[in-house]
Amino acid sequence: MNKIQENYTFSMIKPDAVQANHIGAMLSMIEKAGFSIDAITMLQLTPIVAEHFYAVHSDRPFYKSLCAFIASSPVVVMVLQKENAVADLRKLMGATNPVEAAEGTIRKIFATSIDYNAIHGSDSDETAASETSFFFPGCDLLLKKASTT
Ligand code: GTP
Ligand code: MG
Repeated sequence: MNKIQENYTFSMIKPDAVQANHIGAMLSMIEKAGFSIDAITMLQLTPIVAEHFYAVHSDRPFYKSLCAFIASSPVVVMVLQKENAVADLRKLMGATNPVEAAEGTIRKIFATSIDYNAIHGSDSDETAASETSFFFPGCDLLLKKASTT
């Protein structure tokens, strides 16, 4: 998905949630919220990929620990399809800090702190396209909808 498409987003189940065996419960919430999982795999980020993934935060004081955490053990990366996918996933995720997350959101249920907040979701269609093409090169072939539109 190298070109920017509406109705798709990229998401990652972070190391804390994978280690806590919450993959199934989180995927279930995502599917029940109306998303279809169009691509998915488990992998572990290298330190260099982690720095690239969070490069936008490179000036922040928490950057080093954020990169170390996201590369600390396997994650699940996926492409999700739904109308308003980017905004709707951010809503389902809840606030970055789980203390501020709304009841019923993924972070409210599964995150334990702002550092260990269970899930990532792209913040725009542009970010979704670049994150998807990074983790799923050639993803056009995989996307169910892409072949029919
Ligand atoms: P991601 O989906 O991980 O990108 O989270 P987000 O989009 O809700 O937040 P953002 O992109 O602003 O920050 C990326 C990650 O950095 C967050 O998930 C947090 O783990 C961490 N982070 C952001 N702000 C803070 C902060 O003020 N303090 C600390 N300790 N961590 C922060
Ligand atoms: Mg973010």
